Amino acid sequence: MYQTLLVTTENKTCIITLNRPDKLNALNQTLLSELKAAFTQALADSEVKSIIITGAGEKAFAAGADIQEFVGLDAQQASNLANNGHIIFGMIENSPKPVVAAVNGFALGGGCELAMACHLRIASENAKFGQPEVKLGLIPGYGGTQRLVQYIGKTKALELILTTDMITANDAYILGLVNYVVPQHELLNKCKEILAKIHAQSPNAVYLAIKSVNAYFDDNKNGFEEEIKNFGQCFTHNDFKEGVSAFLEKRKPNF
Ligand code: COA
Repeated sequence: MYQTLLVTTENKTCIITLNRPDKLNALNQTLLSELKAAFTQALADSEVKSIIITGAGEKAFAAGADIQEFVGLDAQQASNLANNGHIIFGMIENSPKPVVAAVNGFALGGGCELAMACHLRIASENAKFGQPEVKLGLIPGYGGTQRLVQYIGKTKALELILTTDMITANDAYILGLVNYVVPQHELLNKCKEILAKIHAQSPNAVYLAIKSVNAYFDDNKNGFEEEIKNFGQCFTHNDFKEGVSAFLEKRKPNF
């Protein structure tokens, strides 16, 4: 039982709902540690094939880190706080199971950063994205200066971070920040529809594909070498035998 999350599992998808709607689902430390725990549990649960992260209510996915918790922090405490967020968001980004952000409203600051740590982002039409930290005398601290550049390029990333402008879901789509924009009442169904396609694939290959794509952005790895290694690894797994047999036998694979 969590104080700040709702967690349910439907059709092999764990849905984690950030549940502080009166604070626009702002990410306080309790929520972040509960998110880490719920996520760890979803990864360990063999009945769970994928994860959706969304926000409670119709207004916000998450309106950022909880600003109230910043009061009185010194530099070291603030760096520790940022580091903690990096660990959790890194865990999401490197998850072997696909993770979709169902962005149902404001995704600001840490909320935008959380959505960016997920593998796919589906936005409702009312969603708004932004990194407003410099307005507070801060910079993005949960990966925003890096992942926003990765997704939309330096030109627009710097504009959004420096002006603190919020962008609409449609603009986020045009910039390549989100995969789809749908009416709010269709948001979860759209996520589930995409995940149903992924559930039909080899979980091992899905994991190795995520790992290989992520290697592109990892300075400590050569992405091409990582791909070669992971390609070879596919051949050691039963999913490969099943996938190829199913193709040759003209049937659907059963992973
Ligand atoms: N941290 C803590 N509390 C937050 C919050 C945050 N990041 N974002 C919103 N809240 C709280 C508000 O303080 C308010 O609480 P209250 O009712 O106890 O006063 C409640 O959530 C509702 O927000 P409110 O500002 O009244 O809603 P709004 O519709 O007028 O404005 C926003 C919505 C998103 C524009 C506005 O809440 C906002 O600018 N939030 C901060 C965004 C931000 O700077 N994020 C980066 C943080 S590093």
